[in-house]
Amino acid sequence: MKQLLIASNNEGKIKEIKKVFSGLDYEIISMKEKGLNLTIIEDQPDFAGNSFKKASEVSKQTGEIVLADDSGLEVEVLGNKPGVLSARFAGEYATDQENNEKLLLLLKDVPNERRRARFRCVMTMYWPDGFYIQTEGTCHGRIGFVPKGSHGFGYDPLFILEGFEKTMAQLTIEEKNKISHRALALKALLELLLSKTVPKD
Ligand code: IMP
Repeated sequence: MKQLLIASNNEGKIKEIKKVFSGLDYEIISMKEKGLNLTIIEDQPDFAGNSFKKASEVSKQTGEIVLADDSGLEVEVLGNKPGVLSARFAGEYATDQENNEKLLLLLKDVPNERRRARFRCVMTMYWPDGFYIQTEGTCHGRIGFVPKGSHGFGYDPLFILEGFEKTMAQLTIEEKNKISHRALALKALLELLLSKTVPKD
C-alpha cells in the first residue's frame, strides 16, 4: 500500500483525513508517526500558494507523497482579511480569543447585512516527481456580534453559517466535519482520486 504523509501536526485534521480516505489505497501517516519535525514558513500571498509550498517542500525533504492544506477566514467588508494571516491577525503569537476580539472591534459599526464572510481551504497533494493536484472548499456565512458556542477552534464562535443560524462552534465536531471548508476540499480531492483522471492512481 502507498503511503500518504499529512503535512500537519493537527490530530483533528489527521483523523478527519483518515476517515474520508479510508476506502483508498493509501496508508495515511502523520509527521509525528514518521518522527518528522519540519517547519515550513507560510509566506505566500494566498491559500493555494501556502498549501502548495507546504506539500512540495515536505515531499522534497522526505521523498513521500504529501497532502497539505491551508485555510482561513475572509471577511468581505475588510477586503477579504484576515485571509492568510488568520492565525496571526492580532499579532505573531495571538490567541484565538485575541484574534476574535480584534475582528469584533474592526466590525463594531458594521451592520448585520454587511458582515458576510467565508472560510476557505485549499488542499494540495504532491508527488515526489513534481506532479500535484489542488482542490478548494468554501463555507459561507457572516460574522456575529458576540461569540457563541464552545466547540471547534479559531473563529468558529463568531462564524454564523449560512442557512443554519448557528455558529460553527455550536455544531458538534461530527456536524462540522460534514459541512466545513476543509471537509469540502477533502471531498473534492477524494472525488478526483476516485475519478481516475489523476494519472498517478
Ligand atoms: P490552518 O490552515 O489550519 O493553519 O488555519 C489558519 C487559521 O485560520 C487558524 O489558526 C484559524 O484562525 C483559521 N481557521 C482555519 N480553519 C478554521 C475553522 O475551521 N474554524 C475556525 N477558524 C479556522
